[in-house]
Amino acid sequence: MPNAKIAGIGYYVPENKVTNNDLARVMDTSDEWIQERTGIVERRYAKKHEESTTTMGVEAAKIAIERAGITNEDIDFIIFATLSPDYYFPGCGVLLQREMGMLGVGALDIRNQCSGFVYGLSIADQFVKSGMYKNVLLVGSEFHSMGLDFSTRGRNVTVIFGDGAGAVVVQPTEEEGKGILSTHLHADGTYAEKLAYINPGSHAGKWEDKERFGYPDVEFGGAFLTQKMWDDEDLFPNMEGQAVFKMAVQKFPEVIMEALQTNGLQPEDIDMLVPHQANLRISQFVQRRMKLRDDQVWNNIQKFGNTTAASIPIALCEAWEQGAVKDGDLVCLAAFGSGFTWGSALIRW
Ligand code: UT7
Repeated sequence: MPNAKIAGIGYYVPENKVTNNDLARVMDTSDEWIQERTGIVERRYAKKHEESTTTMGVEAAKIAIERAGITNEDIDFIIFATLSPDYYFPGCGVLLQREMGMLGVGALDIRNQCSGFVYGLSIADQFVKSGMYKNVLLVGSEFHSMGLDFSTRGRNVTVIFGDGAGAVVVQPTEEEGKGILSTHLHADGTYAEKLAYINPGSHAGKWEDKERFGYPDVEFGGAFLTQKMWDDEDLFPNMEGQAVFKMAVQKFPEVIMEALQTNGLQPEDIDMLVPHQANLRISQFVQRRMKLRDDQVWNNIQKFGNTTAASIPIALCEAWEQGAVKDGDLVCLAAFGSGFTWGSALIRW
C-alpha cells in the first residue's frame, strides 16, 4: 500500500491588515494586552461583499494544484474544513467545486474547527492509501471577521481570530518511508460549550434553552434563528479562554508524543513542528514541554492571528516556502480546539 504525501500546498490571506490598535478603536482592549496574552500583532480581514470563505479557499487551492503539477480536472475528491461557511448548508465543498469546475467529484465538508485540517488530512490519507482516490484536494478556510462581536463584550474572542485559507493536494507516493506516516484523532464532547458558536441552531430541543433563546412554543416548526437571539445579541462565538488554554497545553504534547511513539521517534527527531496557531503562549508552552529549539517550531500567529481550520496549512506553506521544511524532513502537525477535538499528523516530507 503506497503512502500518501502532500504533493502541493498553497495559502491565501486577504490584503487588509488589522492591527491591535485598530481593534482598540472599537473595543476596550490594547496592543499591550493582546501581544502579552496571545503574541498577536495583526491579523487579516477579508473584504466584505467581495470575498468569502469559499473564494479564499479557491485562491489557496489554485496554488496547491499548480504546485502539485496537476490541473483541476485531476482532482478526484474535495474536503473542505471551516467553521465559518458561506451558507448554513450546503457546505463550501460544493461551492468551491462549482467555482473551480470540478463537477461530479465527491465533496465533503468537515466541522472540526481548529482540528479541521488534521482531521481532513487523516481522511485524505485513508482515501489515498486505500487506492480510492489519487488527487484529494483538502482546503481549510475561515472568514471569522464576519461573525465576531466587535463590542467590548466579545473582546476575549474577537482579538484572537483572523481570516485566511490554506490548501493541499494529497497524492500517493512510491518513495519508501516518505509521506504521511500516521495521523491521530481525538475528541471529548464533555467540553462542547466551552468554545462554541451555538446560535442560530436547533438546540430548542434542549428544554433549558427554550426560554433562554426564545424558541417559539409551537407544535410544529419554529426557526433556528429567533428574535430573542437578535435582541440579546446572542449570535456570536463564546469561549472560556482559561479552560481551553489549560486543556490545550495538556493535549498538544500528548498527541504529539502519540504520533512520535507510534513511529518509534523522539521529540528531538522533529525537524519542524507546525502547531495550530491558537495562541503564541500555548505554542511556547508546548515547545518548552517538548524541549524543542526555536528552529523546530513554526509560529506565524503574530501576523495572521488564529485562522482556525486554515492555520496549519498557512503556517506549513509559509515554512515550506521559506525553506524551513525540506525534502526528507520530519514534520509534525498538531491541533487542538473547539469540541474539544485534537489531533496530530507525522509526515516525512
Ligand atoms: O483555536 C481555538 C482554541 N482557542 C484557544 O486556544 C484560546 C485559549 N485561551 C486563550 O488564549 C486565553 O485564555 C485568552 C487569550 C483568550 C484570554 O487570556 P487570559 O489570560 O486567559 O485572560 P482572561 O480570560 O482570564 O481574562 C483576564 C482579564 C479579564 O479582566 P478581569 O476580569 O481580570 O478584570 C478580562 O475581562 O483580561 C480581560 N480581557 C481583556 N482585556 C483587554 C479579556 N480579553 C481582553 C482583551 N483586551 N481583548
